[in-house]
Amino acid sequence: MLLRTNLRILAILVWHCFALCRIAVAEDSAIPLPLKEYKGREIAQTMHYLGAPWLTRESREREEDCKTMLAALHVQPGDVVCDLGCGNGFYTLKLVKLVGEKGRVLAVDIQREMLGLLKDRAAEEKVTNIEPILGTLVDPKLPDGAVDLVLLVDVYHEFSHPEQMLAAIRKSLKPTGRVALVEFRAEDPNVPIKPLHKMSKAQIMKEFPPNGFKLVEEFDKLPWQHLMFFQRDMTHSTNTTIDRSPQR
Ligand SMILES: C[S@@+](CC[C@H](N)C(=O)[O-])C[C@H]1O[C@@H](n2cnc3c(N)ncnc32)[C@H](O)[C@@H]1O
Repeated sequence: MLLRTNLRILAILVWHCFALCRIAVAEDSAIPLPLKEYKGREIAQTMHYLGAPWLTRESREREEDCKTMLAALHVQPGDVVCDLGCGNGFYTLKLVKLVGEKGRVLAVDIQREMLGLLKDRAAEEKVTNIEPILGTLVDPKLPDGAVDLVLLVDVYHEFSHPEQMLAAIRKSLKPTGRVALVEFRAEDPNVPIKPLHKMSKAQIMKEFPPNGFKLVEEFDKLPWQHLMFFQRDMTHSTNTTIDRSPQR
């Protein structure tokens, strides 16, 4: 009798597991297969949330000269800034101070756990004007035409769907909105980061302009990273065909 009840409970549990898996697969099937490479560049794996302590390592301020980088962004009080691929919020918490009480920081990540870590850190610092957003591999879920600056620090090279992400970013920008792209310099062998996690300016220029962005400024004074600013190229046709053929 007991055995039969246990078997029935087990059967119900198994059925629920299958049902949940089906939902996950159904949602995933709406997202095209991730790319392995894009325009000759190998795409890096997403950094796992268990590695988050590396993002707040003590040496980071020195390695990235964060103060200089943030000053170069020219964020104004009241701005709407998006920290896209925010991780545990190393830059999010700094951006909040720049936008002030009237501004907003939209903090997007695809890992719920990263957003959890960000929320903990924001609570510790008693910061309230951060909006954590759980994005997907193809959609950062940003409001249309609302963002002054999208900051991409050490994340673009991880995008498994660069064209969809760039199209979504483009849509989210105000007419004067900018993208600040920060990537470790591939041209510089002295930058002690694995090649897979670096990008050259030439590669960046192979990827951004064809997706409707024009280069508007370059800041070359960071110790290890490129900082390049892009805006929407209004002469670009938004009807570009996205190649969604599976590559994995
Ligand atoms: C190397 S970490 C950098 C985090 C943060 N920008 C920083 O500099 O501290 C990259 C982060 O980007 C996130 N990420 C990767 N692809 C993403 C996507 N398509 N949309 C949003 N976040 C993404 C990862 O989950 C990870 O938290």
